[in-house]
Amino acid sequence: MAEFLIPPHVILGSNGFKEAYGYLKSYGDRALIVTGPHVGKSPMVMALKKALEEFEIAYYVFDETSGEPTDEMVVKGVEAYKKSNSRFIIGIGGGSPLDLAKAIALMAVQKEGVGIADFCGKEIVCDIPKIVAIPTTSGTGSEATKFSVITDTKKDIKMLLKGNCLIPHLAIIDYENTMDMPKSVTAATGLDALTHAIEAYTSKKATELTDVYGLSAVKRIMKYLPKAYKNGNDGQARKEMAIGAFEAGVCINNSSVTIVHGMSRPIGALFHIPHGKSNAMLLGECLNFALEGTYERFGNLARACGLAGEKEDDKKASEIFIKAVEEVLEICEIPTLRQCGIEKEKFVELIPKMTKDALDSGSPSNTRKEVKKEDCEKIYCNLIAK
Ligand SMILES: [Fe+2]
Repeated sequence: MAEFLIPPHVILGSNGFKEAYGYLKSYGDRALIVTGPHVGKSPMVMALKKALEEFEIAYYVFDETSGEPTDEMVVKGVEAYKKSNSRFIIGIGGGSPLDLAKAIALMAVQKEGVGIADFCGKEIVCDIPKIVAIPTTSGTGSEATKFSVITDTKKDIKMLLKGNCLIPHLAIIDYENTMDMPKSVTAATGLDALTHAIEAYTSKKATELTDVYGLSAVKRIMKYLPKAYKNGNDGQARKEMAIGAFEAGVCINNSSVTIVHGMSRPIGALFHIPHGKSNAMLLGECLNFALEGTYERFGNLARACGLAGEKEDDKKASEIFIKAVEEVLEICEIPTLRQCGIEKEKFVELIPKMTKDALDSGSPSNTRKEVKKEDCEKIYCNLIAK
């Protein structure tokens, strides 16, 4: 038996705030808006505030999400939630404020002495305030998932929090909110979404239902990410990417990520490379590793994208697919670790810790091909050699 979970309510398209009236009113009369300092001043947050005022819902803005969310930000956010007497939480922005909104909702109802690290690695079952997720990037799919990734600042690790209660009650997906994304963010977040879709489709946990979303997401993102990257004003490309990122989020919510995410989180935690960027750096290497024994699945992806037909066997079609992914990576101009200023000696020194943290996360074990310690070490070595 395989459970399939998606957010109970999704509003897709423009005018989302107006459509959300009934839901928001039912969540309570005070909301905590969790966002970042930049998005916090943007026209979309202004529009959200205006809508809340019209709905007679009071709000308090917590805009202290800077970079990837940490346990320290969660503590401050919970203080803001309690001080403002909020009843529900609206996360608006990229994956970071959305993940932070989930963690704040979880911690807002805990007893004193309970820390967020206490939930790491456990299936969280808890009655928490309702979460509304409004993405302004097309990448993390956090609006569709039961996951929140929070950095433990003492241990320098990214904690993966998971539980059905963390699935947003309402997701508002309006591609117009993504039109202002700069090129580098379009690339990193779009490649994160592509990574989700490929990993979930080729994961050991894939099911017939996740396959539907996975094939659709990969097809959409492979076609429209290069267009969105080349021309940020391409409304259709932005719209398709917003849908693709959501579909990919639904996928990982039900069939998990695999080796790329497993190996990417330690790079993010130790070297502060944004999540989408470190995934993109790993994607080519990891897919070439995972290919063996997964030819049928990768072949299906090639055929879904129209890159191969019936005359190519699965192995040939798989190779065509990986090549096409590498071309998308090239178009998106993802820098190497060294171009990001990472020192080779420091990186090599931390490979044992990163390998351990990657394997301990459990994600690599969802890969159809067995991932050993030596495999991770080799991939990390190849990455810093570029
Ligand atoms: Fe991701």
